[in-house]
Amino acid sequence: MSNILSPSILSADFWKLGEQIKELEAAGVQWVHIDVMDGLFVPSISYGMPVIASIRKGTDLFFDVHLMIEKPERYIKEFVESGADLINFHLEATDAVEETIAQIRSYGKKVGITIKPNTPAEAVEPYLELVDMVLVMTVEPGFGGQKLIPSCVDKVPVIRRMITEKGLNVDIEVDGGINTENVSAALEAGANVIVAGSAVFKDDIRKNVEGFYSEMGYC
Ligand code: DX5
Ligand code: ZN
Repeated sequence: MSNILSPSILSADFWKLGEQIKELEAAGVQWVHIDVMDGLFVPSISYGMPVIASIRKGTDLFFDVHLMIEKPERYIKEFVESGADLINFHLEATDAVEETIAQIRSYGKKVGITIKPNTPAEAVEPYLELVDMVLVMTVEPGFGGQKLIPSCVDKVPVIRRMITEKGLNVDIEVDGGINTENVSAALEAGANVIVAGSAVFKDDIRKNVEGFYSEMGYC
């Protein structure tokens, strides 16, 4: 299972969004993490379908969309049409988990289920056979630039064990407060997809990506 860096454009400079996405490409990045917030599931509001559709026109990067919205089942079609390749939604945001997974699958897209810091690792177990990814939040969702909560990383080996015991091939993504100092601990815990917002977009994007790659075992 390969390690992937998924830079979160929440920390980008939106005046230069296209330019900064090109900088990610030039640095060898393959995924981009897109945080959608509705002001209900989380306190803040970020961006939605029109922004995703607009950047879809300019890049072939893999779009890892993280929905922080209530009742995500209402909008799956729209996010697929905007260009999502993978849709992560929160277990805490819906009573229709299986229906939402099935909807995403019906469009041939990858599915991720996401848990907040206070949701136990065991909550994902019933769905592991149905998904491509589990996203473990390592901060309270809602804002970039927060400090990682170490106890959240402790859930990663528990989930990795469940996946291995079931003989499945499911990615584990971690999101929130990840930097070049703590990324190796997240990988050792069993995560293989790393989200980083402020640690990638602060100052020199290329240098920051290189810093992650050397910690993640890339040349
Ligand atoms: C937070 C978002 C994150 C955020 C990460 O709710 O889900 O993806 O952009 O930003 P950093 O890496 O700065 O914590
Ligand atoms: Zn995110």
